[in-house]
Amino acid sequence: MPTIEFENVTKIYDENTVALDDVSFTISEGEFVILLGPSGAGKSTMLRVLNGLTDPTEGTVRIGNREIQGNRSEVGMVFQEHYLIESKTAFGNALSGALSRNGLLRSALGMHAEPDKVTALEALQTVGLLDEAAQRAESMSGGQKQRVGIARALVQEPEIVLADEPVASLDPKAARDVMRYLKKAATAQDLTTVTSLHQVNIAREFGDRFLGIRDGEVIFDGDADDLTMDEMDRIYYGEAQGGKTVPTGSPSDDLGGDADAAADGGGRA
Ligand SMILES: Nc1ncnc2c1ncn2[C@@H]1O[C@H](COP(=O)(O)OP(=O)(O)O)[C@@H](O)[C@H]1O
Ligand SMILES: [Mg+2]
Repeated sequence: MPTIEFENVTKIYDENTVALDDVSFTISEGEFVILLGPSGAGKSTMLRVLNGLTDPTEGTVRIGNREIQGNRSEVGMVFQEHYLIESKTAFGNALSGALSRNGLLRSALGMHAEPDKVTALEALQTVGLLDEAAQRAESMSGGQKQRVGIARALVQEPEIVLADEPVASLDPKAARDVMRYLKKAATAQDLTTVTSLHQVNIAREFGDRFLGIRDGEVIFDGDADDLTMDEMDRIYYGEAQGGKTVPTGSPSDDLGGDADAAADGGGRA
């Protein structure tokens, strides 16, 4: 049974911007799916529609056979920016993931049930940060913060985890670490996961299935073996480049001439 279903989904922001163009696909429970595509292809829009943050202009999105309406607590989000509370500990930040389940008032009063605290510690253990539970976010590295962000999403006890460029601002080693923990969490909890990434070489290591998005359309759907150099060229450049320009190096040159992606690839470790 599909966990996620896009049926003829179109998203038009204004007359001139068709961000998603009649997109249909299904994702099964427990799949680890990576969205690839150049900047502006529609990856973030796809994730936002999936999370109920944005309504499709046409078509239907279902999660577990229920049509999406509004923001969904069964969907956990991990963003490029971690949005942690810097002065709070890793534990406090992870625990805040219980907010959507417990209601704002109880969370604001710090009235967390013991099971939530156990869940938060388990989530920190899943992302390899149990020893750092009492450390404030402000003293953590970019990679550690992103792992706390994953822990926070896990504490929400979601059915689905969506991650929009979760490692775009990390160096390749930290990026791999974060992806390894995300994959580990997804496998351990049998989560359905959809992640957008522009570091193709890192994506290849972790994805079970890849959706290639270009100009608002899904133009590739397959596994790592199907994702040949020609297919990557088609996704990123619209046509085969004879293998010359395939992104394989560090995040900053993963997209060759794509200036936006190169800018994303830099930044803090
Ligand atoms: N809030 C918005 N308002 C208007 N246009 C938008 C908005 N968000 C994205 N777009 C446009 O929709 C298209 C797809 O963007 P996006 O989903 O962010 O792509 P990606 O994440 O693949 O870079 C782009 O042309 C972008 O400029
Ligand atoms: Mg995006």
